[in-house]
Amino acid sequence: MGLNVAVLANLKKNAPHYEGMPADAWADLDSEITVNSIIAALESRGHRATFLEGNLSLVETLPKLKPDICFNICEGHWGDSREAHVPAILEMLRIPYTGSGVLTLALTLDKPMTKRVLAFHGLPTPAFQVFERADEPLDPDLAFPLFVKPSREGTGMGVSGNSIVHNKAELHERLAGLIARYHQPILAERFVRGREVTLGVVGNLTGPVAWRVPHDEHAPRMLRGLHFLPPLEVDFAAYPESENGVYTNRMKTEWADDFHYFCPAPLEPELLARLQWLTAAVFRVTGSVDVARVDFRLDADDGNKPYILEVNPLPGLYPGLSDLVLEADAAGISYNDLVNEILDAACARHGIQLLP
Ligand SMILES: Nc1ncnc2c1ncn2[C@@H]1O[C@H](COP(=O)(O)OP(=O)(O)OP(=O)(O)O)[C@@H](O)[C@H]1O
Ligand SMILES: [Mg+2]
Repeated sequence: MGLNVAVLANLKKNAPHYEGMPADAWADLDSEITVNSIIAALESRGHRATFLEGNLSLVETLPKLKPDICFNICEGHWGDSREAHVPAILEMLRIPYTGSGVLTLALTLDKPMTKRVLAFHGLPTPAFQVFERADEPLDPDLAFPLFVKPSREGTGMGVSGNSIVHNKAELHERLAGLIARYHQPILAERFVRGREVTLGVVGNLTGPVAWRVPHDEHAPRMLRGLHFLPPLEVDFAAYPESENGVYTNRMKTEWADDFHYFCPAPLEPELLARLQWLTAAVFRVTGSVDVARVDFRLDADDGNKPYILEVNPLPGLYPGLSDLVLEADAAGISYNDLVNEILDAACARHGIQLLP
């Protein structure tokens, strides 16, 4: 007998409507196709799987369903820690769940806060400034071109070919537009010109895991327990010049069916090893568990030096389309196997016995 699993997600079709919603509102929420595919994957291993919408109704529905574990992909609806809301409810109900916890999900939804943690550990992330008003003076250490994006969105929301700004007037205009539209602080980062690679990882670090990265380049690097999927590179040459070599919202939504990429990305073995080590370090210092995807740019002006853009501890699981799923596919791992590998990692972490 398999486990009783509750699949928790926020479906686009159930999302609240509100006045003045931007056109891309709820672009990060999930489709029924994703939820049904996760359910089918879990059932293929003999588990029983039931979908529940991830909102306050869980307080009523979960105690009735009594799941052994929840498969959580909720992105949340409101507030600056929205991805952490459902995990917080689950912890209050004392029900185990897959994927990262409250602290990690609240941290990583906030790109500037995550960058502060990465910078503290000496991990490379582009220099940045956060703007709460469009007319704040620019830090004299930051040089144009800059890349401007919302602090707390995903799926390329607010990201287009125009996100690159070349002077103060463009910066001001872009900041004003994004603040008015997204009502949140806006992040301006050094624009890293170069290739774009994303790395997925499933599993958990074993051994003593301190939230610390050794400074010594030659110290043993802790990767044990992590299963790295092959790196995926976006093939910008296949897209119109309007996208400006940026992985835009349009590419992630409107044009997602026709995504152009290389997987595994053609990378020198040393560079791949460096990216895997950085991914493990990011996973570790952000407290991520079970699964994550880390996005990088390779600086063409500095010998392809990798810069961490962000970490996604709730990477998309749309079958055949999401980066993580494409990476698994390139490694010969089916969608069903990927989903169950995430579940198994969580079960091992929680000490939940899986019958053979
Ligand atoms: N500093 C930068 N320099 C160059 N390009 C950048 C920079 N920051 C972001 N980008 C571009 O914008 C895209 C979206 O940025 P980012 O990954 O931070 O946002 P996101 O919308 O949260 O993505 P996701 O869909 O992975 O959640 C990146 O994939 C990259 O193409
Ligand atoms: Mg990203």
